[in-house]
Amino acid sequence: MRATATAQPNIALIKYWGKRDTALNLPAVGSISITLSDLYTRMTVDFDDGLEQDVLHLNDEPNDKLLPRLSNALDIAAGGDRPKARIISECNFPIAAGLASSASSFAAIVVAASAAMGIERSVGELANLAGRASGSAARSLYGGFVELENSGDAVVVGELLSADDWPLDVVVAVTATGPKPVGSTEAMEISRKTSPFYDRWVSDQPDDLASARDAIASRNFSALASIAEHNCLKMHSVMWSSRPAIVYWNDATLACLQTIRQLQSDGVAVFFTIDAGPQVKAVCDPADTATVEAALSATDGVRDILTSGLGEGARLT
Ligand code: DP6
Repeated sequence: MRATATAQPNIALIKYWGKRDTALNLPAVGSISITLSDLYTRMTVDFDDGLEQDVLHLNDEPNDKLLPRLSNALDIAAGGDRPKARIISECNFPIAAGLASSASSFAAIVVAASAAMGIERSVGELANLAGRASGSAARSLYGGFVELENSGDAVVVGELLSADDWPLDVVVAVTATGPKPVGSTEAMEISRKTSPFYDRWVSDQPDDLASARDAIASRNFSALASIAEHNCLKMHSVMWSSRPAIVYWNDATLACLQTIRQLQSDGVAVFFTIDAGPQVKAVCDPADTATVEAALSATDGVRDILTSGLGEGARLT
């Protein structure tokens, strides 16, 4: 009753922010993301009747902080009456700093737990289970360019283009490594209840999704850049206009945006996106990756640079 799965984080270009059902964790809006190749979470789930409680080892250290949500994901994937489990997780990038570590963790644990229990599930079923644990995790079941459609009582997730169809790179400028002040689950609810812009955010999303879908289908970089930056800034405007305000940015976040604006005016094919954290993700044409890495490394306050191509969905390893 043991299995290991690997999943990569995904970065949303058209963002998920807000829930229409908190009990089932159903998103209020559809979203479009790209799955990365070089950052990963590898998760082993070992169900053991002899254990009295779940235990988690993260990068060889016992970890109680992340255990409750992972135990909940095991309940979702294997049922509340499942045996207790030993969870061994290995992650090669900073956790809980807005780098979508939850997406890769929940995608990997749902795949590993299903296999460890001997339950065969389609990718769509696994995506729905991962999405109940964390909305963005549903997208990490797929590779390349992924759309999550928000319809009915389940989410429909599918691949728009594979990683090989349109190779792009993502350069992550790490501007802080500590955990974020407020997690996205809680922050989304604050936005839904208090931001005067929230309803408009939800009602505009189908147009942004359509624009991004068209840009991806025609591999039109500047059209994708334009809609992705707009959608990102709109999501952060919803956060900033929430009460209390949710501000994940720091000085270096803004400095990175200025660096990217300068690169764009020099003709470099690059655009930014930012999630629930202070890191800036620069999406670029692989021909420009070295230029983007050099410019972001030289930006004040940038502590580290992580670069990744686009990769495949979660799988058993
Ligand atoms: C800003 O998927 O972490 O990264 O469903 O509550 O676990 P929960 O939220 P989560 O939120 C991700 C928010 C985002 C945008 C995105 O990835 O689409």
